[in-house]
Parts: sequence; structure tokens; C-alpha cells
Amino acid sequence: MTPKTFKIKSFGCQMNVYDGERMSELLGAQGMAAAADGEDADLVVLNTCHIREKAAEKAYSDIGRLRREDGSKPLIALAGCVAQAEGAEARRRSPMIDLVVGPQAYHRLPEMIAQAAGGGRPVDTDMPAISKFDALPARRRATPSAFLTVQEGCDKFCTYCVVPYTRGAEVSRPWDDIVAEAHALVDGGAREIVLLGQNVNAWSDGHRGLAELIRKLATIAGLERIRYTTSHPADMTDALIAAHGEVDKLMPYLHLPVQSGSNRILQAMNRSHTTDTYLRLLERMRAARPDIALSGDFIVAFPGETERDFEATLQLVDEVRYAAAYSFKYSARPGTPAATMEDQIPRDVMEDRLRRLHERINTHQLAFNRSKVGVHTQILIERAGRQDGQMIGKSPWLRSRRRPRHRPARARVRAALFARAAVRRLRPSPDYHRAAPRGAHRRAGQQGADRRRSGCCGARPRCPDWPLQPARQRP
Ligand code: SAH
Ligand code: SF4
Ligand code: F3S
Repeated sequence: MTPKTFKIKSFGCQMNVYDGERMSELLGAQGMAAAADGEDADLVVLNTCHIREKAAEKAYSDIGRLRREDGSKPLIALAGCVAQAEGAEARRRSPMIDLVVGPQAYHRLPEMIAQAAGGGRPVDTDMPAISKFDALPARRRATPSAFLTVQEGCDKFCTYCVVPYTRGAEVSRPWDDIVAEAHALVDGGAREIVLLGQNVNAWSDGHRGLAELIRKLATIAGLERIRYTTSHPADMTDALIAAHGEVDKLMPYLHLPVQSGSNRILQAMNRSHTTDTYLRLLERMRAARPDIALSGDFIVAFPGETERDFEATLQLVDEVRYAAAYSFKYSARPGTPAATMEDQIPRDVMEDRLRRLHERINTHQLAFNRSKVGVHTQILIERAGRQDGQMIGKSPWLRSRRRPRHRPARARVRAALFARAAVRRLRPSPDYHRAAPRGAHRRAGQQGADRRRSGCCGARPRCPDWPLQPARQRP
């Protein structure tokens, strides 16, 4: 039977969220409807992440839960990076999967769904030369803050990472296509655009780079804010740094992962920067935009990491004073060079280092947030909160703000996109979720046992356990 309703569950990074939105638009254009919350869907698309072992395993445990009480099941599509990494093998691991589609092939979903509904078991993990974007329907509706993928893939081959294998080589979308999509998003209601790429600052059309693209997008009337993520230190150009000082619409926030504070480990990771070149880059960034909020990613307990290497990471965190940072226990990924390196670190050491790094990051995060108490700023309202009249939005520094018991009321939230607010007091919020005791995770309410088990407070977009959580979906 051809499915009439669908549900898309996206895990992992913002690029998967973007892909999930595009799949949803594609299926909508075929006459299918998104199933309401809590309702069964005829088709479930699991848009998966392969970055760490737990994330990949989550895909399979989720599939098992799709079996209904009467023994039936929806049509199941495995999409995203697990699909790309495992291809037809995924069906051998879980025969409940009806079709497997990689991140570069999802524009073929409608025909693959038709094949699967007819009893076929299609698998497509090709990375065709023809861009999937050309085959997708034009964008119409947009959330106040909208994602726009401008670059895909990675050529950096960090020794721990699966992304170059699951997303392929670095490819930049054409300038005109990006500008047209940005216009469509603004016409559809977006006030902020977040440019996405696995290495977004590697975007280039041969003679222009991301800085020029940002300057062009900044001329779009109605677009108030521009962000971009995720950047690689090797691709931070002078032009991009200068844009931070000159383009008002470019928000004072930069996510620039370093991964470790030890040069020895950075080399083993095949990162092309040293702590010195990284720190100098940040100095120049702060000179261009003194109020910039910096964030980064860290991997603890990479093979061979000694206590001394780890302490160098803590020292780097102290030097940078990150407004936020995300840290992960090293996870050995099959097929990557680091997985077979000697001196894999025992679990208890990993956990101890992760806890100590969290504590250090939290200290700086709290200091950053405290520095904003009493500062009046614009908040981009993104959605209604759980309390009546409460609104939730983002400051320029990407800190979440709740605006309680004020006009405009819930029904008018979507129209009132910007509000001015001062940070009055600090409380457990997405800004603090790393510091929050376990009880606070529970108080954060979220969706019960699953989140508590994974230790995730549900803060979005990037709780440390984000790959295990269904990512934000378009309402
Ligand atoms: N392209 C970005 C990030 C991509 S993945 C960059 O170069 O920084 C997001 C984050 O996941 C990485 O920054 C890294 O901190 C983490 N990560 C990637 N592979 C990992 C692994 N095998 N184990 C633990 N964390 C990993
Ligand atoms: Fe992975 Fe490194 Fe590429 Fe980032 S730069 S996606 S960490 S290989
Ligand atoms: Fe993103 Fe996870 Fe793939 S982080 S690129 S969805 S492996």
C-alpha cells in the first residue's frame, strides 16, 4: 500500500535536520501528509547519524520499537549517515528496513517508496554528480531561524572521523542557488539564516568565498541575522574574519572546533592546526569583533592521550574562555585510522576526563552568561514556551532566552519575531545544561526515560548527547 502519512526523525547534526526538512517538503509535494504527534505514520524515515557508536546503535534500537502491538509495522526508510555507511548491510542487520537511502540520494525517495510499497527493497547510497538540490521542490515556509546547506562533505580526514566517508568530498553549492534559496526562506518567514556545511567556511565557487557570500546575503531585505556552522580552523580566511567586524547582520558567534589542547594529539588526529595557530586565529577574531562568543568541540581520551595532554586541553579552555563548548568521549569508528591505534584509553579514565572538562567549560560558560546580566539586546523569538505567554528565543550570542508572562500572547508569537529583553537572572537553561545536576535534567521534564538514560536534558540545538536525540523538526 502506498503510504499516505509520514514521520521523519532526524538525529545528529544540523545538516541532518536540514535534510529532514527537505525530505519532508519533498514528501509533502507528493501529496503525503506529516503524521500528527503521537499518531502512527504509514512511513517512518529514520535520518540517522554515524558519528559515534551510541548514535549509530540508536538507529537500530529505534527500528525495533516501530513494531506495532498487532505485529504490523510502518514502511521503514533508513536515511542519513548510517544508511550511507552500511548500505545493503543495514537490511541484513535489521530486515524490518524497507529502503536504504544515503544523504546524497534522498531526492529519489518518492520512487524508492513506490518500489518498497510494491515489495521491492531499494538501496541507493550513490553520490551522483548531479546535485540532489536540483531535484528538490523550492522552499516555501520557513521557521524564524532557518537552516540553509551551502556546502557538503569533508576532505580533511581527521583520523577519528567518519564524515569524509559518509558525506563524501567537499562540494560547494552554486552561488545563485544559495541566494535564491535564501530569498525563498525570507519570503517564507525566516529572519535568521544559518548557513550549514560540514566545513562551511570551505565554501567557494572558485573565485569567491564564504565572506563574499555572507556580504551578498546581508543585502536581502527582511533578513536580520546570519550565522554559519561548522567551521574548520584551516579555512578561516582574513576576509571572513574581517566580515565579522563589518557585516552587522553577521552574529557575534563562532563555533570553531579545536578538539584538543595538545599538539601531539592534534597531530595524531590529523588536525592541521596547532594550539598556537588556533589561539592566534581567535585573537584576530576578537580584534575584529570584541564581543564575539566563541564555542568549540573537544574529544577526550583520543588513543594515546596522557594526563599531561589532557591538562593541556584544560589549559586551552582557560585561555579561550569559551562561551560554550561541546565535548565528547572518543568513540572508535570502524574503518577510521584511529580505531586501530594503540593505547586506546580505558572507559573510567574517559569518563573522569569528560567530567573534568565539563566542569571547566561550565565555569567559563557561566562567566560569559553572567557578563550579559543586565545587557539589553534583541532576542529572535523562535517558539512559544510551555508556560502560557512564555516565549523562547535566541540572543545574538546564541544563548537561549525565555521571556515569561509578557505580551504578545502565545497565539501572536509567530508574528512578533523580535523582542528586546535584558537578561535579568540566571537559571538552569540550555546555557547551563552541562552544569545541571542530574535532578535538573529530570526537572527539565523532557520526554521521560529515554532522555534520562542518555543523560540528555533535551536542550537544543546541541546538548552533549544530541546525536541520540530526535533533532528539531519543522512544526
Ligand atoms: N566538521 C566539524 C565537526 C564534525 S563532527 C569539525 O571539523 O570540527 C562534530 C564533532 O563530533 C566533532 O567536532 C568532534 O568533536 C566529534 N566527533 C567526531 N568524531 C568523533 C569520534 N569518533 N568520537 C568522538 N567524537 C567525535
Ligand atoms: Fe570530521 Fe575532521 Fe572533517 Fe570535521 S574536519 S568533519 S572532524 S574529518
Ligand atoms: Fe552529521 Fe552525524 Fe552524519 S554528525 S554528517 S549526521 S555522521
